[in-house]
Amino acid sequence: MSKEFDVLVVGGGPGGYVAAIRAAQLGLAVACCESNPYADPKGEPRLGGTCLNVGCIPSKALLHTSHLFDEAAHHFADQGIAVGTPSIDVRRMLERKDGIVRQLTSGIKGLFKKNKVTQLNGHGSFVGRKEVAGSEVWEMKVGDDLVEAKQVIVATGSKARHLPGVSVDNQIVCDNVGALDIDSVPRRLAVIGAGVIGLEMGSVWRRLGSEVTLLEALPEFLSAADIDVAREAAKIFAKQGLKIITGIEIGDVKVSQKGVSIDYRDKDGKDQKLDADRLIVSVGRIPNTDGLNPDAVGLKLNARGQIEVDGHCRTNLPGVWAVGDVVAGPMLAHKAMEEGVMVAELIAGQAGHCNFETIPWVIYTSPEIAWVGRTEQQLKSEGVAYRAGKIPFAANGRALGMGEPGGFVKLLACAETDRILGVHIIGANASELISEGVVAMEFGAASEDLARICHAHPTLSEVVHEAALACDKRPLHF
Ligand code: FAD
Ligand code: NAI
Repeated sequence: MSKEFDVLVVGGGPGGYVAAIRAAQLGLAVACCESNPYADPKGEPRLGGTCLNVGCIPSKALLHTSHLFDEAAHHFADQGIAVGTPSIDVRRMLERKDGIVRQLTSGIKGLFKKNKVTQLNGHGSFVGRKEVAGSEVWEMKVGDDLVEAKQVIVATGSKARHLPGVSVDNQIVCDNVGALDIDSVPRRLAVIGAGVIGLEMGSVWRRLGSEVTLLEALPEFLSAADIDVAREAAKIFAKQGLKIITGIEIGDVKVSQKGVSIDYRDKDGKDQKLDADRLIVSVGRIPNTDGLNPDAVGLKLNARGQIEVDGHCRTNLPGVWAVGDVVAGPMLAHKAMEEGVMVAELIAGQAGHCNFETIPWVIYTSPEIAWVGRTEQQLKSEGVAYRAGKIPFAANGRALGMGEPGGFVKLLACAETDRILGVHIIGANASELISEGVVAMEFGAASEDLARICHAHPTLSEVVHEAALACDKRPLHF
């Protein structure tokens, strides 16, 4: 006997679990299947996907601990606090991180119960389409069971991209999974790929005392960010001791009892070798459709292996949708969640919508980096006339009081209409501050709108205010 649902969500990550909850809120009979190897105390796969289990949440827990350690080791003394030389109990740090993951993943289980979403434990794969009582349904296999659903939402996420010839054992050579479980401070840590994971995990271990070297293939550092932000970040990270070598080409990577040795060619074409105790490979992620059996039903993938969707996450098949990392767009948890909500609402007959122009990016280094909208280099290449307002945190009383004077806010507005086109922040709490830019852009605000809004004093948000004023060349405190 098949189980029958209005909606079957395949994958319990941020895209999938949010879609399932929203669809259930809208009165649909919903199941969500999950098959990951991270078992909860009952032996069932844990919900939350990459984000909660081996991504956003554990990495932010480690970033927090290592930030406090770094403050105690290097910055408490500036404020007259003497704690001596701090030591780190890595095991305890990992236990704390694991506790947070346990709490949040079981929290999703609780949300499923509350919203009457059925959790199915097992891998989902397409079987076919059949007619039941005059209407067409999708037939899926979930583990050993057959499930029928009127609508299917594929939210199978992504997995780490590995390099040919570099085998990941998650002991010496780690992807994101092993990188979040390194059980002692490596004396020398090498990272291939100076992207988001490389910078965040490199920061964790640099703060705890590792000598960290990042090897980046592209000639430019952080090329997705605004050029001013990337330059400022490169300066600050170099000062912190993160060694970032750009324009390299990786050669042989050899693992031995002693660690790992990485051959690479530098940007001048010279052969170089980097020896390290551990290596993190963070060269991007690839969409995951393993075992989904898309060919059985003709579900179309693009050349990059992503499920092809339109602007509303509809696939080429009627009643089959796909959201999150498995489709095109930034691989971010909040983007996956937005798509999940949109699809659930569309299925329920509502006007689901997702604004891809206002998805914020955050890199949780110290200082944090965050942006929304277009960069200055994008505006230049698109030939858009703009005005820029750029204000450093060094002129802000709150930032100085916090001992966080680094970085700036840069606001870009259309020269003709004054509409805000981009907000770029490098500085303390940029992850929270960026929301003001997102809200402003969602409401189609002009820089003048932000400039005329009262900002509490003394706060870091005053720098956003001043940057808006600076677009009109009238900052008050700079
Ligand atoms: P996933 O979270 O990957 O979930 C997919 C789920 O589907 C998995 O649990 C998988 O087991 C399951 N699954 C796959 N196939 C099947 C199947 N056939 N049947 C049943 N189940 C299946 N993003 C941010 O926004 N902020 C951050 O700070 C951040 N930090 C990150 C840090 C790291 C180290 C990493 C690796 C990623 C980070 N991300 C961050 C990215 C974020 O984790 C992803 O964008 C997000 O998890 C994508 O959600 P998703 O639901 O599309 O996929
Ligand atoms: P990434 O795309 O951010 O960075 C990968 C880097 O590796 C790039 O700079 C790329 O040029 C480089 N690279 C690629 N091939 C290389 C090679 N052969 N040799 C050397 N360098 C090479 O990918 P990353 O860091 O793996 O993270 C994956 C994704 O996970 C991110 O793009 C992001 O979507 C998500 N994520 C988000 C976070 C956040 O929101 N704070 C945190 C961590 C991950």
